[in-house]
Order: sequence, then C-alpha cells, then structure tokens
Amino acid sequence: MSEITIRRPDDWHVHLRDGAMLAAAAPFTARRFGRAMVMPNLDPPVTTAKAARAYRERILAVAGPGFDPLMTCFLTDETDADEVVLGFAEGVFAAVKLYPAHATTNSAAGVTDIGRAYDLFERMADIGMPLLVHGEVTDGDVFDREAAFIERVLAPLLERFPTLKVVFEHITTEDAVDFVREAGGRLGATITAHHLLLNRSSMFEGGIRPHRYCLPVAKRERHRLALRRAAVAAEPPFFLGTDSAPHAVSEKESACGCAGIFSAPAALELYTQVFDEEGALDRLEDFASINGARFYGLPVNEDTVTLVRDGAAVPEEVPIDGGERVRPFMAGRTLPWRLGPGDD
Ligand code: DOR
Ligand code: ZN
Repeated sequence: MSEITIRRPDDWHVHLRDGAMLAAAAPFTARRFGRAMVMPNLDPPVTTAKAARAYRERILAVAGPGFDPLMTCFLTDETDADEVVLGFAEGVFAAVKLYPAHATTNSAAGVTDIGRAYDLFERMADIGMPLLVHGEVTDGDVFDREAAFIERVLAPLLERFPTLKVVFEHITTEDAVDFVREAGGRLGATITAHHLLLNRSSMFEGGIRPHRYCLPVAKRERHRLALRRAAVAAEPPFFLGTDSAPHAVSEKESACGCAGIFSAPAALELYTQVFDEEGALDRLEDFASINGARFYGLPVNEDTVTLVRDGAAVPEEVPIDGGERVRPFMAGRTLPWRLGPGDD
C-alpha cells in the first residue's frame, strides 16, 4: 500500500500552550486532527469555565479552519464542583484533568488530597463527565510510578465510583495495558506515538537525549511492545493521544531539562509508520479516528485525511515568535509516511 485514506483522526491528549508557543504549535495539530482534547496545565492552569472559554478562542484564532478544540478543567484541591458541572452543561468543559501535585510540568497546583474531589466525582459520574488522569504517583522509583498509581490510586478510585468514566492518559506499561483491558469499558487509555517508538534506553542512546524525555518516562522494551500490541489491535478502550508537549530548546537542553516531547509536526505520520511496521494499516482508522470518539460518545469525523508512503523530513526546529525555537520529535529524520497533498 502506498497511500492510505482514513476518517480524520482526533488527538485525545495534547498540550497546545499559549501565546507565541500556541501560535507555533497549534497549526500542526489542527492540520492533522479534527478535534483535540486540550490539556489545561497552563501557568496559571485553566480552572474556570471563563478561562477555558477565553483559551478556546485563542486556540481558534491561530489553529486554522475546521479544528474543534475540546477544553479540560485542571483539578485542584479547591475546585468548585458547581463550576465544573455548569461548565460541562454549557459545553465549555469536555472533561476534568487530574494531575497529582508535582507529578509533571505545571502541575504544582494539582491534587494533594483526592478525597476532596469525591463529591465532584459523584456528580461527574451522574452527568457522564469523564475524568482524565495523569497516572503517576509522585514518590518512589520514577520507572515504577505508573504501576504504583494503578494500585494505590486508580483501582480504589474505580471501585469507589463504579460508573465514573475515566481515561488513563499516556499509558507506558504492560501493567496499564492489562489493567485497562480488564476494567470493562468505562476505563479508556491514550497511547502516544513516542511511547510506541521509544524505550528507556532510547533516552541514553550515545549520550543523554533530552528531546526523548517525557513523563511518564519511557519504560523497558517489553512495555513498549505491550503498548504496540494494544494499539495495533485497535482494541476499543485504546485510542490516539499524542501528548505532544512543546518546550523551548533552552528549556530542554538544560541542566534540569523539562519533560515533554513535541510530536505534533509528525505525530500522525509516526502512528502510521508503527501500524505499517506491524502490518496493521487496516486498523489505523479504528485506533486513530473511531475508538476515542466512541469512548467519549461523540460522532466520528466525516472528512478524511490521506497519508502517502513517500519520505518526508521532519523539520530540525520550529521558530517561535520572540526568538526561541522548539525541536520536534524525530527532528531532521526522514520518515516513511507524510501527509497527502491537500492535507499538508
Ligand atoms: O512529558 C510531559 N510533558 N508530560 C506531562 O504530563 C506534561 C507535559 C508538559 O506539559 O510539558
Ligand atoms: Zn500530557
């Protein structure tokens, strides 16, 4: 197959940032995806419907036509349940995002005591509003934090709220794959392109590779292979979420480099590569364009996107207004797939 046309996919987990970075990053996502679940970890985070509405307008102003950003509410210990429920009813908030405090970039205002959100979770379950979780505890070995989160936080949460819809974001382990499979439908999971391509050794290939560092950090090879199997089988609870997370080069190539991989410039091309490598191009559409919409109870997109097997180079860097630069995942590499004419 030298070309594939699929229903336009959605990116169910992306960081678009704000200001000049938003202007540089958003068009890459909007060119490929119909909708995107936009993460709220701005500084300060998006915690009110008013802030989300204004942020959505800023995204639309730079994204280009036909793109529908879905907004999320950053959960803090102080979150007002009425505000969230009203924001959902008004169609401003699509979901709530739970970051354990200090788990990752711009998460200091996150949750320190999950019990404070139990009333909110009860109401979210009643109205069918999904909870998106950054699934890592904040203590112990960094490579074990996702597995620990399942046992200490996620399993008890699902048990306490048996009808709450939850998305386990950017899963990185076989433990997570198995857990999602066994959860029976109301637990979904996003899988990034980079976690399908990197293992933990990739971060140290010939030296330290800051542009391959993200959170949750890539794990052992056996975990990467388990993620690949789940994705390319297009099992219903697993769907596309890039976690594209741009940081200026100066923030990445630093004594204390930020977590985040900017995959938006090649994300769909990279998923296509993975499905091709696994002989599963016929299931790319399910994973990229159908499973997520089904999970969220939204219609699938009616237009299509074409990918062509015809090498294209990923830019070395993307300039940001004001002088900074951001380096994409796979910068400078020639990838086997590119967006087709009209889609690029
Ligand atoms: O690597 C990451 N970067 N993981 C996250 O959870 C947050 C993200 C960011 O905002 O940079
Ligand atoms: Zn993220």
